[in-house]
Amino acid sequence: MAVLDIVTFPEPSLRLKAKPVTKFDKEFQDLVNDMFETMRAAPGVGLAAPQIGQSIRLVVVEYSEDEDENAKPKTYVLVNPEIVKHSEETVTDIEGCLSVPGLVGEVERYEAVTVKALNRFGKPSKIKAEGWLARIFQHEMDHLDGVLYIDRAENVYQPSPEEMATLRD
Ligand code: NI
Repeated sequence: MAVLDIVTFPEPSLRLKAKPVTKFDKEFQDLVNDMFETMRAAPGVGLAAPQIGQSIRLVVVEYSEDEDENAKPKTYVLVNPEIVKHSEETVTDIEGCLSVPGLVGEVERYEAVTVKALNRFGKPSKIKAEGWLARIFQHEMDHLDGVLYIDRAENVYQPSPEEMATLRD
């Protein structure tokens, strides 16, 4: 496994529409593992392949819905994901991005989404997510279409170190 370099704004590859994944071979499995390792090292709760310079439709997420810090986080691999259903309700909250270091912004997202995706072995799955997990999915899936949260944010600003410490990543 290896920690990969995360590309940052305004790197042009972050703006490409990523291509669907068609091969689930050893090389792809290694990439998925490396993306988890890269995300944990950052640290972050989600990472999309364009952020490591690979323009393919792959997202990894590791997040614990439990408020308890000792709860084991759940991992998700979303390959060629699509939102097939979403709530009418939206929520505005503060997001950051590993590819836009040092900044945060207020972004409106659907409160709940149902995502259809393939897993890391190419098997179809459907995942329902709400709250912060739904936000992570929407943020990471935007990366696959070359969209960054700063495109959607009401305002983008540099948080104070005190505020940064209180924000969820
Ligand atoms: Ni991001």
